[in-house]
Amino acid sequence: MAVLVTGGAGYIGSHAVAALVERGEEIVIVDNLQQGHRDAVLGGKLYVGDLRDGEFLDTVFGENSIDAVIHFAANSLVGESMKDPGKYYHNNVYGTLCLLEKMNQHGVKKIVFSSTAATYGEPENVPIHEHDRTLPTNTYGETKLAMEKMMKWFDVASGIKYVSLRYFNAAGAHASGKIGEDHSPETHLVPIILQTALGQRSHISIFGDDYPTEDGTCIRDYIHVSDLADAHVLAVDRLRSGGDSAIYNLGNGTGFSVKQVIDIARQVTGRDIPAVIEARRAGDPAVLVASSDLARSELGWKPTRNKLEDIIGSAWAWHQANPAGYNKQ
Ligand code: UFG
Repeated sequence: MAVLVTGGAGYIGSHAVAALVERGEEIVIVDNLQQGHRDAVLGGKLYVGDLRDGEFLDTVFGENSIDAVIHFAANSLVGESMKDPGKYYHNNVYGTLCLLEKMNQHGVKKIVFSSTAATYGEPENVPIHEHDRTLPTNTYGETKLAMEKMMKWFDVASGIKYVSLRYFNAAGAHASGKIGEDHSPETHLVPIILQTALGQRSHISIFGDDYPTEDGTCIRDYIHVSDLADAHVLAVDRLRSGGDSAIYNLGNGTGFSVKQVIDIARQVTGRDIPAVIEARRAGDPAVLVASSDLARSELGWKPTRNKLEDIIGSAWAWHQANPAGYNKQ
């Protein structure tokens, strides 16, 4: 039986496909290539199309024996979601509705979902646990929470079992050097720092140094993208062995401030990385750090690429080898 990966040509999706390839799984990929890259797909059968196209999904489910779905396909920029909420409700929420309805029609009852720490909003407790309050501060997080809730009710009504994985800050690149992070536009801290190290940007802007943290900059929990990918494979295993629906945080449990990340990147790259303090970015919580105890105990997840130096080092190798990203050398 095949695993369908939606958004499998994107940053995290392509690393999950790589992990499935390493396991020898049969893989089907759906991606509309709006953000994804054909060259990021290291294996499996790629269908280019959109989840909101019912005939297209009928073809994908009809031509393949799919028993589980890993659902990444979504828009994921916090800032953009605040300016264009309709785009996020349409692609993320309606897209997921279309997918769940087609899964139901075709008798596919297992889904692993790409969720986010943005579902929590400003946390009540640090580290954050799965049972903590969810009160998103941006449209992106709100749509991901809506998608989680939709899966809950499809489970109640139709027995579609789900594992929702709430990621903290994904970073790094695959050990093979073949795939890495290439967003357009790029908004994430680590790639922007590395583009600065490469001389593609004059400086990195630090969005606020007046947060209630030790050095005044925001603290995040950075997790290697291949450790995230491994959790998806474990989640598929859980569902295939009859496990119930569940929600898990995925992070390292250690927070680093923006200034600390820049300092570590300076050490890793040996480059001068000029930084300029600027105004806060709307919607940024001060501290987001995960408790991933549940994923460790229930999924058997063991992140192995924990050191931020190594996470940034893997991203630096990718950026040096692919300074203009996919297909742009
Ligand atoms: N930052 C800067 N300068 C930049 C870019 C980012 O100072 O040029 C700061 C941000 O303000 C934030 C930190 O670096 O404090 C991390 O920012 P990212 O944009 O890299 O990541 P976010 O924490 O905002 O968001 C990421 C994902 C979201 C996800 C969230 C969950 O992009 O999809 O993690 O924690 F929801």
